[in-house]
Amino acid sequence: MNRSGDAIPWDDLVAAAFRAQAASYSPYSGYRVGAALLAEDGRVFVGTNVENASYGLCLCAERSAIAAAVVSGAQRFAAIAIVSPGDAPASPCGMCRQVLAELGPPFAVRCVAEGGGSLDTSTDALLPFAFTPAVLEAGRDPMREVGQRSTLLSGTDSGAVTIEGTPRRSTRPPHALDGTRPDREAFVVGVALKVAAGTGTDLAKQQQAGEAIDPTVDEARKKSEGE
Ligand code: THU
Repeated sequence: MNRSGDAIPWDDLVAAAFRAQAASYSPYSGYRVGAALLAEDGRVFVGTNVENASYGLCLCAERSAIAAAVVSGAQRFAAIAIVSPGDAPASPCGMCRQVLAELGPPFAVRCVAEGGGSLDTSTDALLPFAFTPAVLEAGRDPMREVGQRSTLLSGTDSGAVTIEGTPRRSTRPPHALDGTRPDREAFVVGVALKVAAGTGTDLAKQQQAGEAIDPTVDEARKKSEGE
């Protein structure tokens, strides 16, 4: 079930966040935070802050809720409610904003103070210009680089460079549930082909002389073709 368009059951979510807050392990700050994350499929995952004697290792409620959701297979969310002490609502820290921005489309955020104050916002409003998986992908797309390079080479009069095999883009999503790194294979092939393209003239001479091309290139090509 996709909840987009449905009203967010904020009262239930805030109540769940308060229950999670009761479990807070915060002996160092005494600042108790609870979070309740509504998945698009309707499930609710809660989190609380978990502190540590090594202070820098403190885990925020929001990130503990995200971890609880992901381990149960939820990666798209409709809303999160966060409760914190005091009269004024506390919005998520910078690290949590980045983590909340990571998965799926942006979603609604309600921050509620124990004293009653509240703030309604969203993950994209909390972190404009976020560094997202899409940004990362766009910056490291090896197929695009190889495509540009081979187009350049084919326009020259060296004319002898033939890149065998068509590099394939992965059709798997950037976050495969089976833990695989989807573009690893494509990356290996991309790098190998870039090496081949970069030494095109030598490669052509080698091929004309009947010599084997660099075995690492050949292996990567075979791997990509499933041989
Ligand atoms: N904390 C959260 O759980 N969420 C936030 O967004 C801000 C801070 C926790 C971390 C730490 O345990 C305590 O609040 C004080 O910083």
